[in-house]
Amino acid sequence: MVTSLKDTTTLHNGVKMPWFGLGVFKVKDGSEAADSVRNAIESGYRSIDTAAIYKNEEGVGQGIKEAGVSRDELFITSKVWNADQGYETTLAAFDASLKKLDIDYLDLYLIHWPVDGKFVETWKALEKLYKEGRVRAIGVSNFHIHHLEELLKEAEIKPMVNQVEYHPHLTQVELREYCEKEGIQLEAWSPLKQGELLEDETIKQIAESYRKSPAQIILRWDLQNKVVTIPKSIKEYRIVANADIFDFELSAEDMDRINALNKNERCGPDPDNFDF
Ligand SMILES: NC(=O)c1ccc[n+]([C@@H]2O[C@H](COP(=O)([O-])OP(=O)(O)OC[C@H]3O[C@@H](n4cnc5c(N)ncnc54)[C@H](OP(=O)(O)O)[C@@H]3O)[C@@H](O)[C@H]2O)c1
Repeated sequence: MVTSLKDTTTLHNGVKMPWFGLGVFKVKDGSEAADSVRNAIESGYRSIDTAAIYKNEEGVGQGIKEAGVSRDELFITSKVWNADQGYETTLAAFDASLKKLDIDYLDLYLIHWPVDGKFVETWKALEKLYKEGRVRAIGVSNFHIHHLEELLKEAEIKPMVNQVEYHPHLTQVELREYCEKEGIQLEAWSPLKQGELLEDETIKQIAESYRKSPAQIILRWDLQNKVVTIPKSIKEYRIVANADIFDFELSAEDMDRINALNKNERCGPDPDNFDF
């Protein structure tokens, strides 16, 4: 059982990644990003998930500095954007992200989306960065099983993480089992379905019975399903409350009730059909 914000999962290369972190999609660069990141780290978070396309890496870097926690205690993720995919362009994009974040290595670098005809070359660049020690772990995002299969045919190093849309309306059972079998850690994006699931009646009922909030129930459900989770908030009281999930455990029956809410329904694009 995960018992604190600092608890980690061990990736297949031995690197330890926190089960819980802060997402910063749609967080504005500058003080909004810096304040969210600083508040999160000050309240015990150790993992921050950004991406080049979020255009807030400078603010995130600022927040990291302001928090004053030593770099080796933190776990910083960024992602290469679709327009930068390809070998040389990915290497350049990695340098640009590090520069904006003002740090000298990343803990995790992800291919943001499986761009057809490009992602294998992009992966080769990630492998180079990994072998050079410039990133401690490499992975993918928004990969279906068939994307992973295609990548694994060419890869020298297996991805350590697959970050995908995952929440009670999209439980990704097959993908989760596949990743578990392959030793690839699944990570949930939009774990709260961008807020929509907080109004779900079943989740609300379960929340009442544990005297917890709907968000806390969903985030606890992620961890009990062995899925890393990175809820986003810019509000300090929510950043603190979202992480207050280590003093209770959902029963097997309640886990099943939440699992049964699956509708294979996305709030974001399907990785088989995106046009960006
Ligand atoms: N790899 C990818 O393609 C991809 C795609 C999307 C997201 N992500 C990552 O995953 C992270 C999380 O996903 P997300 O940001 O899309 O959605 P999310 O975490 O499911 O939901 C965030 C939304 O919920 C609100 N919220 C957070 N905690 C709440 C609470 N306790 N009560 C009520 N409302 C609450 C936030 O508002 P406030 O900020 O106002 O609190 C925000 O509007 C992102 O930030 C990003 O790092 C990755």
